Amino acid sequence: MSAKFIDLFSGIGGFRLGFESQGFQCVFSSEIDEHAKKMYCENFGDKPFGDITKISEKDIPKFDILLGGFPCQPFSIAGEKKGFNDTRGTLFFDIVRIVKHHKPKVVVLENVKHFKNHDKGNTLKVVLSTLEQIGYETSWQLLNAKDFGVPQNRERTIIIASLDKIEFDFKKIIKKPTFSLKEILETENNNFEYLKKSEYTLIENPKKQPSGLIFAGYRNKKIRQKGVRENTEHLSRVHKQPNRIYSSEGTNPTLSSQESSGRYFIYHNKKVRKLTLKECYRLMGFSDNLKLIGTQSKLYNRVGNSIVVPMVEAIAKQVNEQLFNEKHLLQYKPQPKQLNMYDYLLENQTIYMAEKIHNKSFHLTAYASGDFKRYTHKA
Ligand SMILES: C[S@@+](CC[C@H](N)C(=O)[O-])C[C@H]1O[C@@H](n2cnc3c(N)ncnc32)[C@H](O)[C@@H]1O
Repeated sequence: MSAKFIDLFSGIGGFRLGFESQGFQCVFSSEIDEHAKKMYCENFGDKPFGDITKISEKDIPKFDILLGGFPCQPFSIAGEKKGFNDTRGTLFFDIVRIVKHHKPKVVVLENVKHFKNHDKGNTLKVVLSTLEQIGYETSWQLLNAKDFGVPQNRERTIIIASLDKIEFDFKKIIKKPTFSLKEILETENNNFEYLKKSEYTLIENPKKQPSGLIFAGYRNKKIRQKGVRENTEHLSRVHKQPNRIYSSEGTNPTLSSQESSGRYFIYHNKKVRKLTLKECYRLMGFSDNLKLIGTQSKLYNRVGNSIVVPMVEAIAKQVNEQLFNEKHLLQYKPQPKQLNMYDYLLENQTIYMAEKIHNKSFHLTAYASGDFKRYTHKA
């Protein structure tokens, strides 16, 4: 019998496609955006339920894996280490109340690259410690779409939590070679939107950046000149992504969730044109069979919000091998972890008292099962 998953914040179903490809079965989905719901229904035959904050955990059927690309929100009581209560009023709170009730074997969460730095690292810390407090082993890593055969430089934070206390090993995820944008471009299309030569400037000797991008030039848009150093106008803060042109010999930058007119320009075959909508969906690893419905602006919006399907497939494959495989579970030996003092105390359920003596160091008096220890910590 195949393991069952729920698809929260489902968007147009990128997570679902990846997990279905590895034999997992979707039993519930939720999404608030009407256009995304229609497109999901058109492609999967299931209409997602709406706003997750209005759905009781008791109305969700039994499942083994919770999937969620949830929106990033700061937690209100920053840093007070109240875990679950810190998360009240956020969508992560809804994830936790569902996890607490159903106790799925696995939780897989996705968020933007900068999630780890959000609210000075507090957001990620609260997410991990909350899952740990309710019985899960967590691990997380940044993964990049370009390592999964998709020519887009799109880094995402992936968090995987296991109720069996298995630490998911991201190193085992199988990567694919990066190839260039030109490999996925449409060849037959009479409606390419080319720019006239007068509308752009190409730079001399464009170089491949470590990210794989090749910045080829920029559109000749009116930009702020005042206070900008000579010859750096194209790089200025006001001259943002929509005006940049990237070579098809490299990878594409991250498709944005804010972009609704598809202003992604490429230099290909000595001409400059806009990426087509079909090419944008290919850049997220969707097949050309995906039914695209609704207005162009909605479709651009949805594609930038999605998750890259081949990256999810690679994750799902390892979730299957590491967290659902009897042999692996039986042989698993927890790896010793390097704990910092705070984690050590938390892990040992120690009541502690920190006594700050000056800005850079503090005494920590710990009472652990009758023991009394005094540490001096120097930052
Ligand atoms: C980053 S996107 C996830 C996209 C999805 N992983 C995909 O592959 O298309 C976050 C999604 O959460 C949805 N969302 C936001 N608030 C919600 C809520 N209260 N209930 C359900 N969905 C919500 C948004 O509409 C958006 O589609």
